[in-house]
Amino acid sequence: MITRERCEALIEKYVTTPWLKLHMKESDIIMQAVANRLGEHEEKWGLSGLLHDLDFDYVGKDPARHVVEFDDILKMENLEVGKDIDKDVYHAIKAHYEENPKVPEKRENNLDYALSASENLSGFLVACALVMPDKRIATVTSDTVLRKLKKKEFAKGVRRDLIQDIEKTGISLEEFIDISLDSMKARASELGL
Ligand SMILES: [Fe+2]
Repeated sequence: MITRERCEALIEKYVTTPWLKLHMKESDIIMQAVANRLGEHEEKWGLSGLLHDLDFDYVGKDPARHVVEFDDILKMENLEVGKDIDKDVYHAIKAHYEENPKVPEKRENNLDYALSASENLSGFLVACALVMPDKRIATVTSDTVLRKLKKKEFAKGVRRDLIQDIEKTGISLEEFIDISLDSMKARASELGL
């Protein structure tokens, strides 16, 4: 599996939007926490979070090309699926945008469900932090998050159904929120939160 250093170099090369870089990092942090909870490989799950939107700036944020052209980057960088990128990591990255009709992979296993849930929750937790009086994630509680998830007009773009799907891995929604919040609070200064 590709090293973290190489992943960071790829991000430097292909991702220019500051919020997107942060979003990928936050997804990495939450995925590590989820892997730890499930007894899975923390570094590998983290890297799937770190890389999942690698092509988003490259495709000009075009949803029709998103995730499809991840393959182009792999080809240009001589990265092989099954060698440099584990097959299940590749599958989860593709399936995180299965809504794209050009993507054949579907969410079907714990890594797939965890990646989609984590990348959606990471954005949601940032949105929760930004409406706190001090704008700090330290102030956000699990209750705040649960309450705001029920408000459809809050952070409308976040897919609540995909966050809820964490339960397919055996982790309850409440626990998922707890471990994700804790993991992001522990790295708050790095994330500027
Ligand atoms: Fe994402």
